[in-house]
Amino acid sequence: MAKDSLTITDNRTGTAYEVPIADGTINAIDLRKIKTDAEDFGLMTYDPAFMNTASVRSKITFIDGDKGILRYRGYPIEQLAEHVGCFDEIGYLLLNGELPNPKQLTEFQKTVNSHAILHENVKKIIEGFRHDAHPMGVFISTVAALSTFYPEAKNIFDQEIRRRQIYRLIAKVPIIAAYAYRHAMGLPYVAADQEMSYAANFINMMFRNGDKNYAVHPVLEHALMVLFILHADHEQNCGTNAMRAIGSSHVDPYAATAGAAAALWGPLHGGANEAVLHMLNQIGTIENVPAFIASVKDGKGKLMGFGHRVYKNFDPRATVIKRLADEVFAVTGQNPRLKIALELERIALEDEYFIKRKLYPNVDFYSGLIYQAMGFPLDFYPVLFAIPRTAGWLSQWEEHILDQEQKIARPRQIYLGYDERPWVPMDKR
Ligand code: CMC
Repeated sequence: MAKDSLTITDNRTGTAYEVPIADGTINAIDLRKIKTDAEDFGLMTYDPAFMNTASVRSKITFIDGDKGILRYRGYPIEQLAEHVGCFDEIGYLLLNGELPNPKQLTEFQKTVNSHAILHENVKKIIEGFRHDAHPMGVFISTVAALSTFYPEAKNIFDQEIRRRQIYRLIAKVPIIAAYAYRHAMGLPYVAADQEMSYAANFINMMFRNGDKNYAVHPVLEHALMVLFILHADHEQNCGTNAMRAIGSSHVDPYAATAGAAAALWGPLHGGANEAVLHMLNQIGTIENVPAFIASVKDGKGKLMGFGHRVYKNFDPRATVIKRLADEVFAVTGQNPRLKIALELERIALEDEYFIKRKLYPNVDFYSGLIYQAMGFPLDFYPVLFAIPRTAGWLSQWEEHILDQEQKIARPRQIYLGYDERPWVPMDKR
């Protein structure tokens, strides 16, 4: 008779063990009862990079990597990208589990907007950086510094205080990002405008110049909102895992968000959008594409913006972005690097190396081309990923700290170093 359990026979001892199966998983701690004798620590699993380990139960984001499905709280990403009217709807949805009705949305926007300002001393922190500091370094440091401005944030189990920090962070991350840019450019800061949408306000804070007729182009506002939606959450990726792991020590959300952003910065993760543009610049012309692909297959570097740990099919975000690119280029003019990207994709999708490994374009392959066309500097792209992801990180963080099954994140190791040995004095080494 079928049973939701697994029977394991330990061939070292001949003993059989039965462990329950729930939600398609076994509980790793159940393996600890598998011992050779009473002194034995018990069996562990070894899973570097969490290739086959679920570390949380979550209700926020669903991905089916083989089918190319991504949903926030059950809503397909394609539908959200098409129908959502402003990014705040996504922030609300991720945090609260439901789409907001008009009253809830207005209330949410009002609360977030009430925090859309930076303490003068935070501006001074940003000003302490060199003009050529990488904006992601400025972003991470400034987000971390916020914890010193709001010491109440350590009361993470007080719902009102916790939520206040969440709204603060969502409101302040675009301002920090924009001010990092304005500082680097030697431009005066532009205050947040509460009448504008989250995306338009950000573009305005970045690019408003002396022209009193300056207005954010509605197509670019819409494009950035869609990009923000696509980047808002992605279940247990490296940055979110960092957010949860750091948060599991019960540190305040500013420190945890700074840590998550640091994890995001790497070129294998949210730094890939910047790396794609460096790669396209390095390739230079379409004629060089075959040689570049050959060098990748030769192991001399990666095709940045391709491949994903979970998606073994098209990344649904990349499909939306590719369509979005046409809308943006109709306004900004085509990005000259687009042709190289399209040729890379065409060759890669027909090539045995990439087919066999199920490597498809991911979210970062085309996003950088759009950011560049919109006027964002190259090193700014990971920051554009971090701004909307902050809402996702905070939703995941809140879920994590309220989860009764969670404890401080603390993996085990297989120790391969020396056994005990006696101290060697300096003159004997
Ligand atoms: N170009 C060339 N080969 C690749 C690539 C690539 N972009 N990605 C994976 N491979 C190869 C890899 O060398 C390996 O080959 P082999 O089996 O011969 O050793 C095989 O494909 C499996 O790769 P893996 O490294 O085991 O896969 P992973 O799940 O550990 O890594 C990844 C996933 C995203 C880190 C990786 O695909 C990668 O480095 N891609 C380029 C960077 C990138 O675009 N990152 C953005 C990810 S999407 C945004 C986000 O949410 O972070």
